[in-house]
Amino acid sequence: MARRTAVFVFAAIVAVAVLSGSAAANFTCPPPGFSPFSCPSLERPPEPQDVLHLKPGNIAAVMALGDSITAGFAMQDGPLEYRGTVYSTGGDDGAFTIGNFLSHYNPDIKGRAKGETIPLTKAGKGLNFAVSEARVRDVPGQIQRLSAKLNSSEYADVKDKWKLLTIFIGANDICECKSMTADQFRTQLTEALTMVHQTFPKTFVNIMTIFNISNVWDVKKDRLYCQAAVPILHECSCLEANATNRQRMDDLGMAVNQVTREVAAKFAALKDPHFTVVVQPAVEDVALDKYPPSIVQDLLSDLDCFHPSLCTDQGFAVGVWNNMFTPPSQKKNNIDPLKPPKAYCPTANDYIQ
Ligand SMILES: *[C@@H]1O[C@H](CO)[C@@H](O)[C@H](O)[C@H]1NC(C)=O
Ligand SMILES: *[C@@H]1O[C@H](CO)[C@@H](O)[C@H](O)[C@H]1NC(C)=O
Ligand SMILES: *[C@@H]1O[C@H](CO)[C@@H](O)[C@H](O)[C@H]1NC(C)=O
Ligand SMILES: *[C@@H]1O[C@H](CO)[C@@H](O)[C@H](O)[C@H]1NC(C)=O
Repeated sequence: MARRTAVFVFAAIVAVAVLSGSAAANFTCPPPGFSPFSCPSLERPPEPQDVLHLKPGNIAAVMALGDSITAGFAMQDGPLEYRGTVYSTGGDDGAFTIGNFLSHYNPDIKGRAKGETIPLTKAGKGLNFAVSEARVRDVPGQIQRLSAKLNSSEYADVKDKWKLLTIFIGANDICECKSMTADQFRTQLTEALTMVHQTFPKTFVNIMTIFNISNVWDVKKDRLYCQAAVPILHECSCLEANATNRQRMDDLGMAVNQVTREVAAKFAALKDPHFTVVVQPAVEDVALDKYPPSIVQDLLSDLDCFHPSLCTDQGFAVGVWNNMFTPPSQKKNNIDPLKPPKAYCPTANDYIQ
């Protein structure tokens, strides 16, 4: 992206942050009945025979690639990327994240990110190299930068050990519903995963499918502040256009999820003992529109009415974590961030899947 655009976007973000002071939340997060992560420890497992026999204690590093959702943009309502609480690789003390859950089974785990970053950075934090506004075509650049960081002395001890990589990409692609096609997505995702396969041996890849972004529109409609913020931030052009375009965006989203399944299956079929790609559909059918407006607004950032809130990210964490111990045909795809299930406690016989 041109530097001028980046500066403009950042200025817009700050302007909206100032406006958002008036957008108070009426909600408790975590929601009532939420259970903190509390599981018995397990003995450190021996080296697994292959990628299909990984236990939580085998994971030496967590890594992430993606867009602003994985960068944690606006999650805690300020104009920052809250990487420390991102569902996959967040490493803030006490944060409800997969990286922190895994540290329970391997206290030496690396790659978790703490704290915040300035929006649109490409420098990553920890081993989270997501970049806000990224499309699937931007993932190869992220892989290159992640690889360079993993090659640094800081990660020398984990580079050749087992790694969990979570990829969540496609939301910005479907926002370009007039130019993007599912076929282009297939080509670009295949390229990206081929590069991941070549670059990161001993890696289990979680690939996320995406939810209907158009549901976000209904939230905006009911809030004066959001009506102003969404067009200023201009985060998703098809969302702002009209109902025809929003429908196109949802249709493209569903086609992209189908493509993601097909591409992941091709990599799994390689039967590489050191590499696999598994679809994690935890958030695919989250139906934001089924909540009353006074509630759903709290599932989204108060800053931009668009990105997941901290509470929603916590729901993502438990949804994906539980799916990681569930066979493909039984994985859940409709996590309810307001009534998240208890985090599953893996037993000595469970493998990551
Ligand atoms: C990281 O090191 C590997 C060799 O272990 C090399 O193939 C790869 O190109 C390096 N990555 C970067 C970005 O330099
Ligand atoms: C929706 O917006 C697009 C431009 O983005 C326009 O071409 C189209 O005619 C509009 N459709 C309707 C039904 O207004
Ligand atoms: C997503 O959108 C499509 C098309 O509009 C619709 O058929 C589907 O039911 C939606 N899913 C959810 C979970 O809202
Ligand atoms: C806040 O929540 C309470 C209880 O759920 C509800 O009665 C009230 O209308 C809400 N206020 C706003 C401003 O949404």
